[in-house]
Amino acid sequence: MKRRESGSGQRRISPTNNRQSGVNIMKILITGGAGYIGSHTCLTLLEEGHEICVVDNLVNSKEAPLARVQEITGRHLDFQRVDLTQKERLRRVFAAHSFEGIIHFAGLKAVGESAVMPLPYYRNNICGTLVLLELMQAYGVKNLVFSSSATVYGEPESVPIRETAAVGPTNPYGRTKLMIEYILKDLYQSDPEFNIAILRYFNPVGAHGSGRIGEDPNDIPNNLMPFISQVAVGKQPRLSVFGSDYPTPDGTGVRDYIHVMDLAAGHGCALEKLCQNPGVVTYNLGTGRGYSVLEMIAAFERVSGRPIPYQLVDRREGDIAVCYADPALAEQDLGWRAKRGIEEMCTDVWRWQSANPNGYE
Ligand code: NAD
Ligand code: WQD
Repeated sequence: MKRRESGSGQRRISPTNNRQSGVNIMKILITGGAGYIGSHTCLTLLEEGHEICVVDNLVNSKEAPLARVQEITGRHLDFQRVDLTQKERLRRVFAAHSFEGIIHFAGLKAVGESAVMPLPYYRNNICGTLVLLELMQAYGVKNLVFSSSATVYGEPESVPIRETAAVGPTNPYGRTKLMIEYILKDLYQSDPEFNIAILRYFNPVGAHGSGRIGEDPNDIPNNLMPFISQVAVGKQPRLSVFGSDYPTPDGTGVRDYIHVMDLAAGHGCALEKLCQNPGVVTYNLGTGRGYSVLEMIAAFERVSGRPIPYQLVDRREGDIAVCYADPALAEQDLGWRAKRGIEEMCTDVWRWQSANPNGYE
């Protein structure tokens, strides 16, 4: 007989956990919780009353945001510096807690880098997830929210993109996300006690309104919003706008930017959904509205009062013209919708960037 790694069966979320607000208070493991989206989600979930344990190897983050999250919320979270691929280390975390749910953010995420060094991306993202799932099964923790990405759609046939659209990622990073989605669906087929919410984020931007936590890229930013904010604060001389000949109103790429606090709230809603034993469910988390690069520059200039010098350059390899979500399913099933517009996104990024020009250093 197969030896169980612990004696426990599945931990269902106890209905006695209901408090006045109607939120089921859970003990949650957050992988990658020190990162950009993870830290904002920790803050939101602590404020909702959940108990949080973060595991993160800090490969792309620092411990500082977790200290700030605790300062802001006045609540404690447990942090364990653990690499997900190290099973024995992670097993000790499972053995020490009785988790009721997991939110799995941990992963490498730089699209360009994933093409240059695919093997570390496959090892980290796939093997890390496999180790996590093996321990979830062994310890009977069967509620999972997984960070997927709109990148799984690749070049969309049409917009807005629904969850039923064809998938076809065009880079190794995106393929790790899609492979993990398949792994999760296979796992559920074999073990229907699992409840899994796959969340496909569009373009997360913004920061918590306190200006104390935000996005802090290790190197020169790859993504538009942190690059714009570093230009505004004087850390970068000018922005290169990648492509001005796309079939869009102003020729620049159009994306669905979503405020990270709206995204964080989506995770709380997804955890609630898991309490209804839905099996595997997949949701787009986006606003449903696209903005061009030039529109984002103009919005940032308006809220910051700083000029954003830019030059039009060639398209970036692998980029697509237009990408935005149909978020109707998340609204219908989760009661979630993005509330914040681009002004608030830019205002909150500027507050964070201007108060922390060197990030968490
Ligand atoms: P991030 O890099 O800020 O956070 C990821 C965290 O995971 C980091 O703190 C990193 O140190 C940690 N990590 C990586 N590998 C690990 C491992 N093996 N063991 C332990 N910790 C590990 O990224 P983010 O922007 O917060 O993204 C969070 C998740 O959302 C990622 O899975 C990412 O792929 C996904 N996502 C991000 C975006 C985006 O644009 N930011 C869009 C769609 C999906
Ligand atoms: C947005 C727009 C660029 C930088 C990426 C990943 C995706 C997801 C989100 C993880 C595009 C343009 C950008 C710059 C520019 N991440 N741009 N100058 O490429 O839509 O999505 O992040 O899952 O998987 O691919 O986001 O912010 O890099 O670009 O002109 O210096 O800004 O061409 O039109 P993208 P982005």
